[in-house]
Amino acid sequence: MLVGLKEVLVQARANKQAIAAFNVPNLEMVRAAIQAAEEANKPVILQHAEGHGSLIPLEEIGPIMRQYAERSRVPVVVHLDHGKSFEALMQAIKLGFTSVMIDASDLPFDENVARTKEIVRIAHSLGVSVEAELGHVFTSSLGGGEGRAPDDDQIGDTEIYTNPKQAKAFVEATDVDCLAVAFGTVHGIYLKEPRLDLTRVREIYQEVNIPLVMHGGSGVAAADYQTAIENGIAKINYYTYANKAAANALKEHVTYEAQDGFFEEYVAIAMKALKMDYTQAIQVFSNSSV
Ligand code: 13P
Repeated sequence: MLVGLKEVLVQARANKQAIAAFNVPNLEMVRAAIQAAEEANKPVILQHAEGHGSLIPLEEIGPIMRQYAERSRVPVVVHLDHGKSFEALMQAIKLGFTSVMIDASDLPFDENVARTKEIVRIAHSLGVSVEAELGHVFTSSLGGGEGRAPDDDQIGDTEIYTNPKQAKAFVEATDVDCLAVAFGTVHGIYLKEPRLDLTRVREIYQEVNIPLVMHGGSGVAAADYQTAIENGIAKINYYTYANKAAANALKEHVTYEAQDGFFEEYVAIAMKALKMDYTQAIQVFSNSSV
């Protein structure tokens, strides 16, 4: 069933779990994510990044995401990830997304507040949840292509990590439902070992008291996911590793099993690998072995 983000995240916090938020820029990812969530009997977030418009436009994948959510046996949120333009944010709301992210994290604090407030006012009046970002989660040049330019040179720079006191002021000023925070995770594949500031996550949560969001959720150590969740993370954005799992399965199949095949066979192999990867992510984020 189609549900709102806020209710799902409040419940996740109460259970000390995080909900997997999968970027699904094609039908195979939508189907595999729904199947994995239904088999695990867990809620899931299907999201589309505005920057993935080059893979598939929002107006094509949006109605598909919504339809699968409505028909699902488990609670499914349909969310716009990294909404940068006013047009994409309004389009997502018009398509029936139950949640949007306004990403103005590259703007100065006051402008981020002003842009976020504008979107919150519109979205909340229509019953749509809002995620915003304070601080800046870097993007690796390998994978993680949600439309952000790679920041390889800056990765490891703690200057842009979210400041807990600023986060409190931001949440009070904007009334967002959840906040994406920077504490050392990176979109895409880590080119060097991540150094996560998990204490900062707790400090931010103590100040804002709303669910926090981890971007760059691929490639984090199992123990670090757990600490992050205990400290306030309730939504984990996850794309690159699932994407890679499907690509690797296809590569292995073509290299070792059958160099010749039909497209439908390759689609099935990719979907199987996606589903296995999604299932594992759902289990790790929900602390369960179901
Ligand atoms: P990964 O690239 O680490 O999977 O993160 C995805 C993400 O944060 C989408 O917003």
